[in-house]
Amino acid sequence: MTRGIAILGSTGSIGTSVLDVVDRLGGRFRVTALAAGSNMPLLTAQVEKYRPALVSVSDKRNAGEIRSLSRRWRTKVVHGPEGALEVARAEGADIVVSAITGMSGFGPTLEAVRAGRRVALANKESMVVGGAFLLKEAARSGARIIPVDSEHSGVFQCLSKEKKRYVRRVILTASGGPFFRTPLKDLKKKTLEEALRHPRWVMGKKVTVDSATLMNKGLELIEARWLFDIEPAKLDVLIHPQSAVHSLVEMEDGSVLAQLSATDMRIPIQYALTWPERCDSALPGLDLGKVGRLEFFRVDDRRYPLFALAKEALRAGESLPVALNAANEVAVGAFLEEKILFPDIPAVVAKVMEAHRARPADSIEAIYNIDREARREARRFIPQR
Ligand SMILES: NC(=O)c1ccc[n+]([C@@H]2O[C@H](COP(=O)([O-])OP(=O)(O)OC[C@H]3O[C@@H](n4cnc5c(N)ncnc54)[C@H](OP(=O)(O)O)[C@@H]3O)[C@@H](O)[C@H]2O)c1
Repeated sequence: MTRGIAILGSTGSIGTSVLDVVDRLGGRFRVTALAAGSNMPLLTAQVEKYRPALVSVSDKRNAGEIRSLSRRWRTKVVHGPEGALEVARAEGADIVVSAITGMSGFGPTLEAVRAGRRVALANKESMVVGGAFLLKEAARSGARIIPVDSEHSGVFQCLSKEKKRYVRRVILTASGGPFFRTPLKDLKKKTLEEALRHPRWVMGKKVTVDSATLMNKGLELIEARWLFDIEPAKLDVLIHPQSAVHSLVEMEDGSVLAQLSATDMRIPIQYALTWPERCDSALPGLDLGKVGRLEFFRVDDRRYPLFALAKEALRAGESLPVALNAANEVAVGAFLEEKILFPDIPAVVAKVMEAHRARPADSIEAIYNIDREARREARRFIPQR
């Protein structure tokens, strides 16, 4: 049976990998709706190839451009945040891939969950800001959230035949990013170009910078806390530069389950789309003989101060993860525009967290208010250079 698929963030690193998986799996999936930002050449090519019934772009002018090109295929074109919501609840989509970057992905993810879809979740920020909320909504609508992040896909696979009450510890691995072996005193000299040179994965710019600061792993810990309903004290991270083992689950009896694969996001993406089935991906497997050795290191909080802040936010809960995520998005945005230096990213986030007054983030309105407030604060702390 062909299943309909809607992709939020179709022109991004995850979005294009999803389409590659769809191509490889032949007629199993039909692309029914796409949402993107402003990469018009790529989106146009996708619309020509897949002819979805619905397309959303970030602004009105781009919508006009796509509309005139896609009229003959009767593609409906919408735009803005409301357009992305329309894609998230689109008719005919059994699966919604949530792969918009950052907080902008939260509203559409929530909409897909409310519509009762299977949500293949790449946008970890949604779980960070509103995990409890998304789970409550999923319980109400019957939506199933399947992780796309390789680490969470690994945990999901390890736990598929296990009882959660037997879990002692869940360990996510991190590559350590490009600066894992950089002397601490040299971090301040690191440029944007160097931060974007990830040793293992090719990803969008925001998540690549988050990997260099290890904030990505902090966000993933918070994501795991909700996805697997695991207490913060049972969550841990190890640096594993080879990125072959994506996660480990230690059981009560001392057994440790692990999930390994080649570093190719198409593997967890395919699993999220075909679950509970598996099918031949025709992708290269993991050649451990070639990898040679698997190393694991504890995280040094001095090298990765943002990771320490994320752990604090995970433990404290309430509004802290929302403020952490918002401050980080502003700081990373400024770094990507080369307005601040690499060590300014944790400095800005730390100041926002220090000034933040924790309170419940128990409604959508509260989440957006806290997000806005933390962004305002973060902009105040961006050093003028
Ligand atoms: N890349 C990975 O390997 C990876 C792995 C695990 C998890 N993730 C997570 O997946 C998410 C996406 O990451 P990525 O690496 O694919 O990012 P990316 O390459 O930057 O792609 C982001 C996508 O979102 C679209 N977009 C951005 N803002 C939007 C908005 N306001 N409305 C509609 N569309 C918008 C972009 O459109 P335009 O480009 O057209 O502007 C693009 O299609 C992130 O949350 C990331 O943490 C990524």
